[in-house]
Amino acid sequence: MCGIIGYLGYRRADEVITRGLKRMEYRGYDSWGIAVNNGGVLNVHKCTGSIGDTGMLDLGDSTIGIGHTRWATHGKPSDTNAHPHLDCKREIAVVHNGIIENFLLLREELSEEGHIFASETDTEVIAHLIEKNFDGNLENALLRSLKELKGSYAVVATGIGERKLVGARYKSPLVLGIGDGEYFLASDVTAVLEYTSRVAYLEDGDLVTITDSGYEITNNGVSVEREIELLPWDLDAAEKGGYEHFMLKEIHEIPRVVEDMLLEYVSDTIHLDVSFAAGISEIIFLACGTSYHAALIGKYLIEEEANIPVRVEYASEFNYHRTPMERTLVIGITQSGETADTLEALRGARSFGARVLVITNVLGSSATRIADEVIFTRAGPEIGVAATKTFIAQLIVIYLLASRLSMPAPDEMEKFITEFRMLPEKVQRILDDSEKIQRVGNILAGYDNMIYIGRGTGFPTALEGALKMKEISYIHAEGYPAGELKHGPFALLGAKTPVVACVVKDKTYDIMLNNLKEVKARGSLVVAIAEEDDPEVEKYVDLVVTTPTVESVFTPLTYSVAMQLLAYYTAARIGCAIDKPRNLAKSVTVE
Ligand code: F6R
Repeated sequence: MCGIIGYLGYRRADEVITRGLKRMEYRGYDSWGIAVNNGGVLNVHKCTGSIGDTGMLDLGDSTIGIGHTRWATHGKPSDTNAHPHLDCKREIAVVHNGIIENFLLLREELSEEGHIFASETDTEVIAHLIEKNFDGNLENALLRSLKELKGSYAVVATGIGERKLVGARYKSPLVLGIGDGEYFLASDVTAVLEYTSRVAYLEDGDLVTITDSGYEITNNGVSVEREIELLPWDLDAAEKGGYEHFMLKEIHEIPRVVEDMLLEYVSDTIHLDVSFAAGISEIIFLACGTSYHAALIGKYLIEEEANIPVRVEYASEFNYHRTPMERTLVIGITQSGETADTLEALRGARSFGARVLVITNVLGSSATRIADEVIFTRAGPEIGVAATKTFIAQLIVIYLLASRLSMPAPDEMEKFITEFRMLPEKVQRILDDSEKIQRVGNILAGYDNMIYIGRGTGFPTALEGALKMKEISYIHAEGYPAGELKHGPFALLGAKTPVVACVVKDKTYDIMLNNLKEVKARGSLVVAIAEEDDPEVEKYVDLVVTTPTVESVFTPLTYSVAMQLLAYYTAARIGCAIDKPRNLAKSVTVE
């Protein structure tokens, strides 16, 4: 995700900002930029690539400026699309995190009024709006401009002619750092910790104006106070936003990811063009690892809802048994967009005549270049090796896709969207309740082997739960369809092998309870992942991890979040290197 920093004080701005941007590198970015305000002129440096490769810049000895690390959303990663963005007269510079939903309309209107745009970004409209609304006062111009925006933003701006920094937030974080005679605005406290540990977190609707004589925060034009907090973190911890591991931080970002994806793809209907699927006779998903599990869940959903035959193939096996595919839609799922096996399989599918859709989290990645169509998951960068928020984001795309392909009646669509909108809050409740999951994780940490089971969509959900457990805790965990246990794995059951069961309240429910009885009778500790309104399940198991009730079709989402936490706390108890499990890499670029 993008990172913002603004500085006004007595140190050289180019130095403070470069250091701050380096501190936010862990967030991931594809390009970056700095503008320092040298009174009569803005000196700007923008480029793609890594800040680490650049020495200290010399943008003049100004002590006020802004900077940004960009994770491309609107427009490819390029020097031009990197922030800061300037107005036509190069008098105002702006950096922004978030998404301006109505930017195309604004851009059209501004262009008609004579504004010339240099980039493809949504952010640039903010610079031009401020220019248009400027009447000698930067904060008033920003306030008027914000009123025209739809979407989310953390924005910081500076303009020539005055030593002033203005910032505002709406649904995207912005923190004010308060030093001795110097002030910072940043999306992340890591950028300021080196200089001050006194911060005030801005709230939605806040606008802050910073000058040499201090700062003022207003909300809706009314002056407001925000509590100044003393940061308890050292720099190391703060890079993870206060979480002990990136994985935990990323799990905690899931409600926000779901909200962002709703903003992007859902209003009163689902904005996903599926014309690429016209006339297809089958879908083949190609993926590896966690993405493969997302695909398996996709098979259940699409076959059930859209009535299209679906195959799911391990990308690494696909090239050994493919058939002609003129009427096939191949869907490659890859978080990184760089997994060598998936890329190779997608190329193979293309050469056999398939249409290729890619679901990925990384704009501009290799997979997007092979694809005919791309859907972005917009989860932001994921640093922890174990896929967590990106898996949930993949599932969301799959739900939206299944729904669009099935063409539901308007009332069904409305019901689906209403359910969807409740998901961020429900996931948040799982996170708020994570102490209970931690207690179960502490118990599971004492075992060397586990079996995960499920039926229907509960089966691939169980597979993913087992993968998460084994990769970060190093405990051997296998996923099985609950019905398969009798055909071999039963031999493993007993006091040394706990069983984690995904119990879904759908047509699989009764038979699943029977299976649990059979497992329990063989002496295994049974942990159910179940919904909170299901007291019945407690009778069949030893421990229950409960999640908020959702339509049964959505349980892969809620159960997966709970099982990500379960794996996390188990591994934490054992003391594993959670973010960088042995032998694993975030992006697997070899076959
Ligand atoms: C597990 C995990 C891996 C990846 C797999 C594919 O937590 O992250 O199993 O899912 O390596 O990666 P992508 O999705 O980047 O193709």
